Amino acid sequence: MTDRRTVPAKFRAVDVIRNKRDGQELSREEIDALVHAYTVGEVPDYQVSAWLMAVVLRGMTRGETAALTDSMLHSGEVLDFSSMPQKKVDKHSTGGVGDKTSLVLAPLVAAAGISVPMISGRGLGHTGGTLDKLEAIPGFNVNLPVAEFRRALETCGCAMIGQTPEIAPADRKLYALRDVTGTVESPYLICASIMSKKLAEGIDGLVLDVKTGSGAFMKKEKDAALLAELMVETGERMGKQVVALITDMDQPLGKMIGNALEVVEVIEILRGHGPEDLRELCLHLAGWMLQLGGVSKSVAEGTQLSAQLISSGRALEKFRQMIELQGGDAKVINDNSRLPQAKRTTQVVSPTDGFISCMQCEQIGTACVILGGGRERKEDSVDPAVGIVLHKKVGDRVSIHEPLATIHYNSPERAQEAASLISKSIQIGDAAPAKRPLIHRVIQKSGDQL
Ligand code: URA
Repeated sequence: MTDRRTVPAKFRAVDVIRNKRDGQELSREEIDALVHAYTVGEVPDYQVSAWLMAVVLRGMTRGETAALTDSMLHSGEVLDFSSMPQKKVDKHSTGGVGDKTSLVLAPLVAAAGISVPMISGRGLGHTGGTLDKLEAIPGFNVNLPVAEFRRALETCGCAMIGQTPEIAPADRKLYALRDVTGTVESPYLICASIMSKKLAEGIDGLVLDVKTGSGAFMKKEKDAALLAELMVETGERMGKQVVALITDMDQPLGKMIGNALEVVEVIEILRGHGPEDLRELCLHLAGWMLQLGGVSKSVAEGTQLSAQLISSGRALEKFRQMIELQGGDAKVINDNSRLPQAKRTTQVVSPTDGFISCMQCEQIGTACVILGGGRERKEDSVDPAVGIVLHKKVGDRVSIHEPLATIHYNSPERAQEAASLISKSIQIGDAAPAKRPLIHRVIQKSGDQL
């Protein structure tokens, strides 16, 4: 890479496009000028599309990635919760199937005395979204204005909302453009997109859950690790404590997939029950959040404290309080039937005896989208009631005709299509495969750790 360049006296987008096309390192001023001009509508989509494609093909240096993140972050409001005495710590996942950890972690970590100001997203592609899951709770409002978000946070210690128009507006525009120009898949652009939104939350620390495997956007561990390193480095350059865990998404997390069903599983976990993989990941992520927030000296201590907060019922109580503060029906906690229910169910059964050898996790997520649990197009609404309950996980023994999954559906045609995709996605072999670890790696400033 060449030396950092100075910005021309008069900013011309075409020069920035050419410089990136030719593999030069852009200066902070060039990046700032482009992001600002695009956000305020002074540069057209076609020029920014060309620049985005040049970034996809040429990549970015760490300095450019930090500069882009910073420009996007300061394109809008940066929340300031410094008047609150508690540390502010959040968690972000790069997206998966059945990944409902955010709904467990916000109340769990708040119960330990840390503030969790969580700004989340909707489902993307085959992956589920935290906002869609929360909205399965009747009345739950994810569109709190910033003043109410602050009030909820001060009262309860956690609050969960969607991105407001004031937060990282550059990312809103850039993300929509990337979605339709084949420029989503760049670790540099993904890093800037995620980190600009997370750093706008006014947090002190961030735990990143970077998924890898057949249900993740980063299928290969080396790609997940590059993204994790970029995000950790970028966050740290901006004075935040950041850690990234590379975690497994080669099969759905937990057993329930679909918005209301996932809320049921969250309540199970907060009651001290629920699937082992989901519980283990939640406790581990919580352990890191507690350590970054200074409540625990080590991750192991944080994990132990989190388990106690679940068994004492304090985490579930925080969840109840958060639901009430955000206008939701907290009675769902004791009565699942208050959550949206699909009209019918049907089962996918095993065609043979054997062991579950693998699951095409992305296709299982797609089956949920087909049922109506996610969006085929941006403007689609989701059906909160539909989804899939898995009865088996990878490595489990199955007998012929034993149920592998139950489909909760409202449309018989969609159920048939989803059932066929699920049965193709679950492979059965003669022996249990080697177990994949749930947590592959932990990446921190100090380097890669296990
Ligand atoms: N999630 C985001 O917020 N941004 C990306 O670019 C990809 C996933």
